[in-house]
Amino acid sequence: MSEGNDILTELDAIRQRAIDALAAVQDENTLQTWKTAHLGRSAAVMQIFSQIGQVDKALRGQVGQKANQVKQALEAALAEKEQAVREAVLARKLVAEKLDVTLPGRKPAYGRLHPATLALEDICQNLMEMGFQIYRSPEVETDENNFELLNIPAYHPARDMWDTFYTTKPGVLLRTHTSPGQIRAMRQVAPKPLRAILPGMSYRYEQTDASHESQFDQVEVIAVGPGITFGDLKGMIEDLAHRMFSPDVHIRLRPSYFPFTEPSAEVDIECFICGGKGCAVCKGGGWLEIGGCGMIHPTVLQNGGYDPSKFSGFAAGLGPERIAMLKYHIEDIRYFWGNDARFLEQF
Ligand code: DAH
Repeated sequence: MSEGNDILTELDAIRQRAIDALAAVQDENTLQTWKTAHLGRSAAVMQIFSQIGQVDKALRGQVGQKANQVKQALEAALAEKEQAVREAVLARKLVAEKLDVTLPGRKPAYGRLHPATLALEDICQNLMEMGFQIYRSPEVETDENNFELLNIPAYHPARDMWDTFYTTKPGVLLRTHTSPGQIRAMRQVAPKPLRAILPGMSYRYEQTDASHESQFDQVEVIAVGPGITFGDLKGMIEDLAHRMFSPDVHIRLRPSYFPFTEPSAEVDIECFICGGKGCAVCKGGGWLEIGGCGMIHPTVLQNGGYDPSKFSGFAAGLGPERIAMLKYHIEDIRYFWGNDARFLEQF
């Protein structure tokens, strides 16, 4: 008798303990632990079910009924708690992963063109507007194109003008200037008239310093046709300088020597910093040297496939880095290929 009553009291206690424990549960893990402890196979209420056979017959029905009520009450409380925990977890997540859609975006790092490329494109763009076409020629060249066909035979003292990187393959070198492209362009177009721009990298076996690099860009300009004169050459350079710098800048052609042109000249432009009065950039002289030029030597015309008695032509070689250095006051040519982002980001 008393045993049955004790079990009824015990069931109330079991229920109370379980409900109290459930109140402390905050997350899914502890809820799972609670479920095992209070509704699992070895839970207190389950033990009552397995002992029910030993209860007084008179009370057995009542105990069974009460045990069922406790179990159902705990299951209902669990379901309610499960819902509450899910909602709490979601609420915490919403706070933690909050997205501020009003925050301004992060700017991507934009790439930019290299200062040598800017100068190169400026020259090419203006020459294209003047009717010249870009022609690509290779950086790895033959000795024949780089020297021989440009009227610079082996052992000729003029070879001293270009310190050369030779490859391990005899007769193959890194071009020391863009002039070998003249031969390639002429041979492709002859005997029709030709107007071409040959831009690209050149290489020299140099001791590098502030004004010498072992690699640099050049832009070669070439025109071949019947009756082309030195006046046409001067006109082209003047027009280019006016387009690139200002419409009233003066140019000057200074007599010089190159084996592939006759006559030859150095190209100077009036200093655009001081307007020719003399300053630190032009070192007081008022003029800036930007390249070489001349009338194509008859031998070179012939090597290109033209009859020099019927055709004439002019050629010029300009230095884009040289022009960029003057334009942007860059004091050391080694900055161009030094890959220092702080330098490159300024353009
Ligand atoms: N190729 C020469 C050099 O690198 C520059 C040059 C001079 C190019 C005169 C020309 C020219 O086309 O006519 O030093």
